[in-house]
Amino acid sequence: MSERKATLKVDGLDETIELPIYSGTIGPDVIDVGGLTAKGMFTYDPGFVSTAACDSQITYIDGAEGVLLHRGYPIDQLAEHSDYLETCYLLLYGELPSKAQKDNFVSTVKRHTMVHEQIRTFFNGFRRDAHPMAVMCGVVGALSAFYHDSLDISDEHHREVAAFRLIAKMPTLAAMSYKFSIGQPFMYPDNNMSYSENFLHMMFGNPCEPSNISPVLAKAMDRIFLLHADHEQNASTSTVRMAGSSGANPFACMAAGIAALWGPSHGGANEAVLEMLEEIGDVSRIDEFVARAKDKDDPFRLMGFGHRVYKNFDPRAKVMKEAADEVLAELGIDNDPLLAIATRLEQIALEDSYFIEKKLYPNVDFYSGIILKAIGIPTSMFTVIFAVGRTVGWIAHWHEMISGSYRIARPRQLYTGHAQRDFVPLDKRG
Ligand code: CMC
Repeated sequence: MSERKATLKVDGLDETIELPIYSGTIGPDVIDVGGLTAKGMFTYDPGFVSTAACDSQITYIDGAEGVLLHRGYPIDQLAEHSDYLETCYLLLYGELPSKAQKDNFVSTVKRHTMVHEQIRTFFNGFRRDAHPMAVMCGVVGALSAFYHDSLDISDEHHREVAAFRLIAKMPTLAAMSYKFSIGQPFMYPDNNMSYSENFLHMMFGNPCEPSNISPVLAKAMDRIFLLHADHEQNASTSTVRMAGSSGANPFACMAAGIAALWGPSHGGANEAVLEMLEEIGDVSRIDEFVARAKDKDDPFRLMGFGHRVYKNFDPRAKVMKEAADEVLAELGIDNDPLLAIATRLEQIALEDSYFIEKKLYPNVDFYSGIILKAIGIPTSMFTVIFAVGRTVGWIAHWHEMISGSYRIARPRQLYTGHAQRDFVPLDKRG
């Protein structure tokens, strides 16, 4: 029980309302406003800017300091010393695995990489020119029509198998959505390869030749997945939790998360960054676009800049920038025109008083787009790759919620519509 209390004095109400205050391990205290309903009031917080919607032990962010911890471990340490599947284990189970636990986890995930053969036919229902995120919304939701033996959310084993299936099958489905769009045959996963090598094999391989995956690119891919693995209660994770709070099955919840991720304010930003760089087209036009971003009457924003929580450098962006430098050096890319625009744009934005005052730093999507482009990933697949990496975060949060105590998420509103009025028959309306 909380000992500290906040007191709330409301105009027109005689009593003072006492609200409990809770402290987390680290981070800001929270005021429990749940008791306000009984007093006939709700809190009002559009965009959930000041609202903690749950308690969680998975990920911690200090936006002012630019800190991101998964189960306590800083993201830069994980990016340097760990790999994506080990980070998945950490997020799901709360601790780094022993060697035996890691081997077992990796081999279990690998055993689930194939998808039901009929899913191949399912793809034929889509137009070839469909955006891969549109396809992903559909096929991931449809997994619940194929894997009936992992839908019982009250069964711990079902939940665990659903987690394995989702982590293992997302790269397969992602690559299939790309192959479908270019009219090439789907590639079966190769379980002798690492998670990221296998993804690149399914994306770029063909059945006529053995795949030859560059270890440098596979490592960069792994790091991109790792850096996107989780980010506490962001829009898509909150969507997954909200969908899950009604008791919906995990595959349906992931489809909801993918839909929320797609928007350009969230995961869609990596695709939007590249489109913006292409639209700018030349270093000489950067000033014009920066001026538009600062103009209140112009809806244009610099994509890949700013963050709801980070008011400092996004710690993922720091690692991503290093990785971008490594990949570009390794591939010998030093005269890419889009890269030149990106570098100059970053420099200008970091020195411009508008961006400094509003604390708008480059975010993870600014640099991930650059690496993905260098690896040869088509722009339309950028957000899909974010979804592949974030799957573990979604499932870890969904599992944390389902295995604890939770209620259906049901926010209220400040109603500003008409008060009650009588129906007007059609012949009496003006
Ligand atoms: N370019 C120009 N101005 C901006 C930008 C930007 N990218 N981002 C924020 N601002 C301004 C905004 O106009 C506002 O100004 P004012 O206070 O004068 O009205 C102020 O900064 C605060 O912005 P906000 O929209 O209230 O902030 P938010 O927390 O609601 O939005 C954001 C955060 C990420 C949606 C926003 O910064 C943005 O649209 N960025 C571009 C899209 C992007 O890169 N998204 C990826 C986020 S990181 C990956 C992920 O988590 O998915």
